[in-house]
Amino acid sequence: MFRMNKMNPILDKEYIAEYYDQTLPYYAKFWSRDSESNALHYGFWEKDTKNIKEALLSENRFLSEIAGIKSTDKVLDAGCGIGGSALWIAKNVGATVTGVTLSKRQLEEAKELAIKNNLEERVDFHIGDYLHADFADNSFDIVWAIESVCHAERKIEFLREAYRLLRKGGRLVVADGFLLRKPLDSEGGLYNKFLVGLALPNLAGVADFQEDMKEVGFVSPQFFDKTDAVKKSARMLYERCLVAYPFAKIANALGLIPDIVFRNGPAGIAQYKMVKSGLAGYGIFLGKK
Ligand SMILES: C[S@@+](CC[C@H](N)C(=O)[O-])C[C@H]1O[C@@H](n2cnc3c(N)ncnc32)[C@H](O)[C@@H]1O
Repeated sequence: MFRMNKMNPILDKEYIAEYYDQTLPYYAKFWSRDSESNALHYGFWEKDTKNIKEALLSENRFLSEIAGIKSTDKVLDAGCGIGGSALWIAKNVGATVTGVTLSKRQLEEAKELAIKNNLEERVDFHIGDYLHADFADNSFDIVWAIESVCHAERKIEFLREAYRLLRKGGRLVVADGFLLRKPLDSEGGLYNKFLVGLALPNLAGVADFQEDMKEVGFVSPQFFDKTDAVKKSARMLYERCLVAYPFAKIANALGLIPDIVFRNGPAGIAQYKMVKSGLAGYGIFLGKK
């Protein structure tokens, strides 16, 4: 449980579930909700990427390739959102994917999408906590986590659980935002807006996360810096939040938008400032058990 100061909410599992239940319709309006990606992540802009949909899918492709996922693999999508990546893996790689989320609304949508895409035999979705997963030891070939581990107060607890769930030789692949340095005193407010707005307790430092992976037992963890690849998405999010902010402020004052949704806007503005100033970046960790 986390409380940064008395103005801030307590970031426990219930709060994170509530955050995703309430913000789901707004993610649909303010981010991409194309019928193919169903992604709640940044996406990677490579040289030939034409639009946000391609960027979102390209992130799935990159992770899948570096983790070497095969059609015979069993994958755990830890923090699966509405199931976009799980469905992509099942459809494009052929692997079997289990997704867990804290949000009931996300779960309902993920299940509907599985039916719509005729993929119910290869994907299944549950409400579950990736810190205390209801699966046996050594039961997955791959643990996959896009922009979900940031919600864990102590990242090492997630890493321990992922290690327990992986068979020997299995791989963990984590894509997320990371701190590239300590925030200056003058950046405390910005960092706090980012954390509170996105229901995050903290961002891990790259070196700390790598140390934690080694401590847990992952063999030669690798880090891929993808900050440049997400910059365009970070800017798009910033611009959308900037435009929406004055309207959201009025709607919030009139009680039409709850605080938990309203705080998302300032966080969307803060995230780009943090990337631009070099405080935060985006990357992927890959580790083998
Ligand atoms: C930003 S969304 C990312 C969703 C998805 N990975 C994607 O790329 O579209 C973060 C997800 O992490 C999940 N999450 C956060 N903490 C979790 C926990 N302790 N156990 C399971 N899921 C969690 C949320 O429920 C949400 O689905």
